[in-house]
Amino acid sequence: MKVIIDSRENIAKLAAKQYIELLAKKPNAVLGHATGSTPLDLYAELVKLCKEGWISYKDVTSFNLDEYVGLDGSHDQSYRYFMNENLFNHIDIDKAKTFVPSGIDTSAAAVAAYDKAIEAAGGIDLQLLGIGENGHIGFNEPDTPFGSLTHMVELTESTRKANSRLFAGGIDEVPTHAVTMGVKTVMNAKSIILMATGPKKAPIMKEVLEGPVTEHVPASVLQLHPSVTIYMDYEAAAQLSK
Ligand code: PGA
Repeated sequence: MKVIIDSRENIAKLAAKQYIELLAKKPNAVLGHATGSTPLDLYAELVKLCKEGWISYKDVTSFNLDEYVGLDGSHDQSYRYFMNENLFNHIDIDKAKTFVPSGIDTSAAAVAAYDKAIEAAGGIDLQLLGIGENGHIGFNEPDTPFGSLTHMVELTESTRKANSRLFAGGIDEVPTHAVTMGVKTVMNAKSIILMATGPKKAPIMKEVLEGPVTEHVPASVLQLHPSVTIYMDYEAAAQLSK
């Protein structure tokens, strides 16, 4: 794993460079996108680069990691809404080529179709990840099997609590379930970026980078992937021993 530690501002710029390079080489790349507070600076940077003409998403296909069950794309806390607001509405991507798991049709067939659609698009070239304080990637909570594909999950209390800050009505409004790419879906990506910022992520980043590979810490699986770049700010890196 390549680990880059810099200021919060700089890691967004450095990660954006990886997108410039990839899209220069492969304009029709398949990108895996993430939601949450962490990628916001990166998305702002990518919007700027697109507006200035440095990159184009014209031929890009996008697959998002996850979606809350019960929220449709018009709900302001749905991840479809988040992606439109923070990235897709501001770049030249074809919305018809942006995919987010459905939070409404959660039938087994619809869920399984997500992995098939990724495969049919040629697989994900670059998957972006944030990380939960409990080590989750996407909504793969601790003890999710490493062999999992896209599936429905029950969210842990700690995840619902962490995300309740974004819901006007607090934790009672946070959905109890989500549909998420599985750990294997993520690991199938050709390259992966994981971003972590702020002091709350420091203990888990120590476990992810220096601890054993274990399903109890989903992100630790990234130690086994051949092409991962971790971008951390100084606060998230504060507990690393080296
Ligand atoms: P955050 O969420 O970026 O809002 O901290 C990350 C995650 O839970 O995966």
